[in-house]
Amino acid sequence: MGLAPVTSWLACPTCGLALSLDERTLGCRTGHRFDLARQGHVNLLGRAAPANADTTEMVAARARFLGAGHYQPIVDALVARTRSARRIVEVGAGTGHYLARVLDAHPAATGLATDVSPMAARRAAKAHDRMGSVVADTWAGLPLRSGVADALLCVFAPRNPVEFARVTGPGGLLLVVTPNAGHLAQARERLGLLGIEGDKLARLNRSMAGAFEAIWSQRIRWTMDLDAGSLQDLVQMGPNAFHEHGEVVDGLEVDADVQLSIFRRAARQ
Ligand SMILES: C[S@@+](CC[C@H](N)C(=O)[O-])C[C@H]1O[C@@H](n2cnc3c(N)ncnc32)[C@H](O)[C@@H]1O
Ligand SMILES: [Zn+2]
Repeated sequence: MGLAPVTSWLACPTCGLALSLDERTLGCRTGHRFDLARQGHVNLLGRAAPANADTTEMVAARARFLGAGHYQPIVDALVARTRSARRIVEVGAGTGHYLARVLDAHPAATGLATDVSPMAARRAAKAHDRMGSVVADTWAGLPLRSGVADALLCVFAPRNPVEFARVTGPGGLLLVVTPNAGHLAQARERLGLLGIEGDKLARLNRSMAGAFEAIWSQRIRWTMDLDAGSLQDLVQMGPNAFHEHGEVVDGLEVDADVQLSIFRRAARQ
């Protein structure tokens, strides 16, 4: 579908005014213009992508790993908790896997994926026909109008509480998935991967306090039977792709241990 159905959610990254779509260019009344890429996404970074943005190979590895269903319990939990949402935004969405599966489950919903990696945004642009894709830096501020999201998803991705509160409408939900300390423990041990620092839940809750009310927290644990190919993809899809790590020679049973934390935007500020 491209960006047309979600254009009204977007804000000009330069001046903050609304954007409208004219053929294949987004523009604001001030005169700032952003051309759509051939794949249908748009770069609203307003600058070059950071040098450490996910590469084509990392994005492909992530797509294969997620496509194999290894993280399906995360999808199921997100689907179950977004039933009433019609406008769903996923930040740091990578390939757009979670948002696409959530949209599959909710036929009346429309989605927008953002990511700082142009390669990821390119992939997300093709992930679902009710989903648009934008290159944007969560930390720099989201190029979205205030209150446009009924639900905002953030799965293993950077958070910006002030921006999350701004773009989530009153009563809207913020769903955050973070790794617990034991996440992928066997893979880390066997391959000497970078430590996945278990996100401290207390820190997450503190950072969201004020604008959001914590309403639900769920620990999700399962065991993945990873063959050598999937294990290789697990290594290649994250920051380990840039670092020394042990060689993948055969498969491994690996525990997944993540936390889904759900916050509701205060009805009034
Ligand atoms: C660990 S991956 C998770 C991707 C996706 N949510 C998933 O679980 O498949 C982290 C993602 O955050 C993106 N990212 C990193 N820094 C970002 C930033 N400042 N703003 C937006 N996205 C960012 C990366 O490009 C990457 O796609
Ligand atoms: Zn503008």
